[in-house]
Amino acid sequence: MQTLQVELAERSYPIYIGDGLLARPDLLLSHIAGRQVAVVTNETVAPLYLERLLSILADFSVTPIILPDGEAFKHWATLQLIFDGLLAARHDRGTTVIALGGGVIGDMAGFAAACYQRGVEFIQIPTTLLSQVDSSVGGKTGINHPLGKNMIGAFYQPKAVLIDTSTLVTLPARELSAGLAEVIKYGLICDMPFLAWLELHIDALLGLDQVLLGEAIARSCAAKAAVVGIDERESGLRATLNLGHTFGHAIETHMGYGVWLHGEAVAAGTVMALEMSQRLGWLTPDERDRGIRLLLRAGLPVVPPTEMTPDNFLEHMAVDKKVLDGRLRLVLLKGLGAAVVTSDFAHEILDATLRADYRAMVDKLRDE
Ligand code: NAD
Ligand code: GLY
Repeated sequence: MQTLQVELAERSYPIYIGDGLLARPDLLLSHIAGRQVAVVTNETVAPLYLERLLSILADFSVTPIILPDGEAFKHWATLQLIFDGLLAARHDRGTTVIALGGGVIGDMAGFAAACYQRGVEFIQIPTTLLSQVDSSVGGKTGINHPLGKNMIGAFYQPKAVLIDTSTLVTLPARELSAGLAEVIKYGLICDMPFLAWLELHIDALLGLDQVLLGEAIARSCAAKAAVVGIDERESGLRATLNLGHTFGHAIETHMGYGVWLHGEAVAAGTVMALEMSQRLGWLTPDERDRGIRLLLRAGLPVVPPTEMTPDNFLEHMAVDKKVLDGRLRLVLLKGLGAAVVTSDFAHEILDATLRADYRAMVDKLRDE
């Protein structure tokens, strides 16, 4: 097992990473202060892992709260089901909310924990690759609004993050690839040796090699913990973790939540950020193609939806959380491994990026 630490003074917390950690009651129990626990999960994850978790919580008064599954349910009405469950079972301020599931469950359970009686304890047990490398760490919680992705929420840190890598064995291949989009992101924004490591091991990661998955998760969490430790509330550096997300969130919102998986939209959005960085002269065409090739090898979509026009993108990007004083800021690369957050680009370059022929670009790479 590896243990990392998110350093946030009195709100610091550990991230435990290892194969089979759901069978280790000691790790979890040391972070639960009261007698009441609510486990928030969904209809897909509950039959797979809820019993295992309940067996190590046998000495507590536990309320399982089982939500419908999917990004399309990451909204107010589903959040209300969590509050319904907590109030019906008379959970008091000493309760602990545990999120058992992917990023949708983690984001909603965390937001519910932040709001319930003005804040109760919260623990993350992420079960998708994406949630293990990204969403469970750093305290961003929330829900979607029809007009914008993750627009309603709170910064609310968990007490601990418990990552059992063996849960990935049941994850559908499409979801594994979606998680790899966020893993590749860390290499592209800040870690060239990790990018080269991923190029070497991407096939083994797709083949669920537990040792390599553990290493990829640990390196990703370490990168994220370092950034969050410096800039918890995204006043600067943390925004670099959103490479490809401004384009990606536009895709998710426009196509309808859940039609493109979050990681898939981030992958296509990352290709757009690579292309725009190249058009600005900050990446060579070879560097851009190196990023696209890795995303392709990870089984990810790298061409934005053909039905989306440049105006569709601009409309959704205008409500991005990085917009400040009406100015759009984007995460771009000034070289591989060197992300910047900038509004320093001519509109014509963004326009050309939105109009670029990604299909032709990718077909050329596939033919090589
Ligand atoms: P998800 O939560 O929808 O999970 C994907 C699918 O896998 C779901 O159907 C889920 O039920 C299923 N599943 C979960 N664990 C499983 C397992 N072990 N075996 C089989 N099936 C399993 O999606 P996700 O990719 O985990 O998370 C995406 C969400 O995370 C988005 O809403 C995104 O906005 C959010 N996000 C948040 C942050 C953050 O910092 N808070 C960062 C990145 C993404
Ligand atoms: N996923 C981006 C962040 O946590 O800031």
